[in-house]
Amino acid sequence: MSKLRATITGVGGYVPEYRLTNDELSQMVDTTDEWIMTRIGIKERRILKEKGKGASDLGVEAVRELLRKTNTDPGEVDLLICPTVTPDMQFPATANVISDKAGIRNAFSFDLNAGCSGFLYGMSTASRFVESGRYKKVVVVGAEKMSAIVDYLDRATCPIFGDGSGAVLMEPTTEAFGVMDEILQVDGSGRRHLYQKAGGSVKPATHETVDAREHFIYQEGQQVFKAAVARMADASVEIMKRNHIAPDDLNWLVPHQANMRIIEATARRMGIKREQVMINIQRYGNTTAATLPLCLWEWEEKLNKGDNLIFATFGAGFTWGSIYVKWGYEGKNHQQT
Ligand code: UT7
Repeated sequence: MSKLRATITGVGGYVPEYRLTNDELSQMVDTTDEWIMTRIGIKERRILKEKGKGASDLGVEAVRELLRKTNTDPGEVDLLICPTVTPDMQFPATANVISDKAGIRNAFSFDLNAGCSGFLYGMSTASRFVESGRYKKVVVVGAEKMSAIVDYLDRATCPIFGDGSGAVLMEPTTEAFGVMDEILQVDGSGRRHLYQKAGGSVKPATHETVDAREHFIYQEGQQVFKAAVARMADASVEIMKRNHIAPDDLNWLVPHQANMRIIEATARRMGIKREQVMINIQRYGNTTAATLPLCLWEWEEKLNKGDNLIFATFGAGFTWGSIYVKWGYEGKNHQQT
């Protein structure tokens, strides 16, 4: 029997309505549109404002759209994986909540935490289930309400992050499409440069942790920046090399949207042009596990069967990696709803 691969057969996405602009941020902290545009490249980010709503409310919208666009009955889904660092609650898993809200009843589901590389880890995990032959329809949905853990008094982190979600359906194929190769890595010693200090089992929530603002993102920007530039590019260059993909053979780089300068440095090292790179950081900022599927969501109609895509990420952990995908369908035939 020929080898089973996991191919993406549909994309869904969702961003909340509210746009937090650089001008509004400039009234909250000591910053300017000019600083944010030159140092990060973000103009606005979307924020989920309604009280009592969380990551699952964002994720379920992307999943509903995905199921509609691919004519998939919720009962057909075998597995749903939700990469997120902003789960609705510590437990149960946000994936369980999304499944319930989307009417997915014949599946199992779990969350996955790999920081900004969550979607890449999720795609890799989903691929193994699909390649086993046992699971036919696997949903990966990155869902993040980053605004829940952003400190809007900290000018070094608050311009970066936004809320949103994106989902893909992965199915088996015996043709040469889908996930072709991957490099995934972790260096846990990098954890001290980007994390949330309190709220876990090491330091449960107390009045003191709240007063010390330890339930927000803590980031040493320059350390993360340096590692991100080196690691994302290393993995992407390596995956090109070992799959014999010349810069002109690559249709799209789908990079994590953390900083325009990191994206540009990665593209430069890969020897590719700006036109080969999906970039929507200006509009959505860094939505952590949702950046990659939100790029696919926006670019879907431009994607053609047989296109070479390289996904690349770097994030908290440190986690990073690169996945090479041969795109499996004509994107323009999938209507956005
Ligand atoms: O997705 C997870 C992975 N995360 C990332 O990839 C993020 C990686 N890091 C970065 O993108 C960048 O390091 C940042 C955007 C976070 C910061 O940019 P930077 O160029 O590394 O700035 P910096 O931290 O070195 O700060 C330079 C200056 C400092 O002032 P002094 O000390 O030179 O006087 C900061 O206080 O810029 C100041 N600064 C700001 N100024 C205006 C920091 N934030 C702001 C701000 N507005 N929002």
